[in-house]
Amino acid sequence: MDHFRYLNSELQAEGVPLRRLADEVGTPVFVYSSAAFEGHLSAFDQAFQDKPHLVCYSVKVASNLALLAKVAGRGLGADIVSGGELFRALKAGIPAAKVVYSGVGKTALEIKEALEAGILMFNVESEAELDLISRIAQDRGQKAPVALRVNPDVDPGTHPYLATGLKESKFGLHVDKALSLYLKAKDHPNLSVIGVDCHIGSQLTTISPFVDTVKRLKLLLSNLRTAGLSISYLDLGGGLGITYDQESPPSPAQYAQSILESLGHEELTLIFEPGRVVAGNSAVLIIKVLYDKITPEKRFIITDGAMNDLIRPSLYGSHHSIVPLREPQSSLLPIKVNVVGPVCESGDFLAKDRLLPPVSAGDYLAVKSAGAYGFSMSSNYNSRPRAAEVLIEGQSYRIIRARESYDDLIRGESL
Ligand code: LLP
Repeated sequence: MDHFRYLNSELQAEGVPLRRLADEVGTPVFVYSSAAFEGHLSAFDQAFQDKPHLVCYSVKVASNLALLAKVAGRGLGADIVSGGELFRALKAGIPAAKVVYSGVGKTALEIKEALEAGILMFNVESEAELDLISRIAQDRGQKAPVALRVNPDVDPGTHPYLATGLKESKFGLHVDKALSLYLKAKDHPNLSVIGVDCHIGSQLTTISPFVDTVKRLKLLLSNLRTAGLSISYLDLGGGLGITYDQESPPSPAQYAQSILESLGHEELTLIFEPGRVVAGNSAVLIIKVLYDKITPEKRFIITDGAMNDLIRPSLYGSHHSIVPLREPQSSLLPIKVNVVGPVCESGDFLAKDRLLPPVSAGDYLAVKSAGAYGFSMSSNYNSRPRAAEVLIEGQSYRIIRARESYDDLIRGESL
């Protein structure tokens, strides 16, 4: 169900008219629907029904404490890639025992912190990292729980920046290398080898790369079993895509069915690290039109939202639908415009050559599907304070991150 829809000609999120919210909170503002966020979380979780599994929400995607608290409230876990994300997850009440830690560049300090917290497992990405983890665990007199992240060399058919499971990528270990490293780690007194991990990419809109991956991992699992390793967890990462424009990705239920079918009978706990499919269509970014600028070549709708707020169009050429908060009359002919922000570079755009209903200064627009990698990738470029974040719950809303002030911009700096 779409929790953002027009009612009485006004775009609403759940029961809140967004124009009123924008008047009260100001723009740019990310507005999350808790019903959408929680609905997507439980749809994913329920898709695996009674198969032993743990959903570890990918913190990088949208990491506000209020959202993470929703994850904690449902008894789910977290996928983290930094000490900062561990800090957030724990603050929000997600138990360390439900945290998995991926990433190619974990520092010694981050490894120590994760061991101290008692995370579920490290998803190890290289031999050098495995060595460092075992040394630190030894110094602490601990056994570090590990999985090796395998790179299955599968093409996820997504944007090159979002593909992580191809052999030329920096992520994971080639299957053969993984096997020899598993054998090395097997009897290490400070390592407990409990899992196999994989994440092949993000915004996948077809099922076959996932299925191919499972097939390759099954082979590895059987080789590991033959070698005397008992693996308890299979972490299949995140990656399930969403509809931004015309895409029709598999639903969580279809995804689950295919994974379970191709996996067959394996006595394992499955771990998933969904992010985009939970948060992506749970939020919009509301921006305000500042100017309508017509040049001989183009028409620019200049807004107070920019690439520093939502970098996805600039960085990946991604499509985000844009709609006015006041429902346009169907009699009005759309016009072709570039929707751009105030940032001083031509890469600053939210949409190019987009057909939009006519808008004028002061009108609000909603940039849709902005919940995943929206606020979390935002920056202070051009010394622009970062946007506020708001959470809708039914008829009411609350600010879950205050708009940054000028003082926030210089915090920690000195003359
Ligand atoms: N697990 C790992 C190890 C990951 O690296 C990622 C995303 C996820 C899970 C979550 O994947 P998801 O379910 O969201 O596809 N900034 C880009 C996406 C980068 C993806 C990074 N890794 C974007 O805006 O599209």
